[in-house]
Amino acid sequence: MANCVVDKDGIKRYLVTIDVNGTPYTKVVKANTLLVNFLREELDMIGTKKGCELGDCGCCTVMLDGKPVNSCLILAVDVDGREVTTIEGIADGEELDIVQEKFIEHAAFQCGFCTSGMIISSRALLNENPSPTEYEVREAIAGNLCRCTGYVNIVEAVLDAAEKK
Ligand code: FES
Ligand code: FES
Repeated sequence: MANCVVDKDGIKRYLVTIDVNGTPYTKVVKANTLLVNFLREELDMIGTKKGCELGDCGCCTVMLDGKPVNSCLILAVDVDGREVTTIEGIADGEELDIVQEKFIEHAAFQCGFCTSGMIISSRALLNENPSPTEYEVREAIAGNLCRCTGYVNIVEAVLDAAEKK
């Protein structure tokens, strides 16, 4: 449980330490601070997008302890002491993750708003299941909505990434 700190305005705030992409960040947050806002506003990691903020679109997807989650549905205080991976953390320095490479190669995005969430869901799938079927890929990204691409190129990119891996 995060430590409670009471500010001078009487509003309770909490001290949290969250590991994001391998680095621990300690911040004071409000009880209702969402993980997506913690990432974007406290850490300036704006690769994680905010769309519906209702758990419907998936563009805010990050990995929490290795599992894909909607960061708009999770409070920062509930992530205290846990590990988060965002789109900023999946490349290895200058070297893109194979899923990122294949998204580029297959032109698996247009506006790009869904892309970070799509890639995180796909990377989480390949971590668990390195050789997924097309059905399993579609199932894994079922919570990620794309208004532009029609999904064909996205699915092909993930399958191609799986083969190359
Ligand atoms: S912004 Fe989180 S699911 Fe849409
Ligand atoms: S590329 Fe535009 S929403 Fe997916």
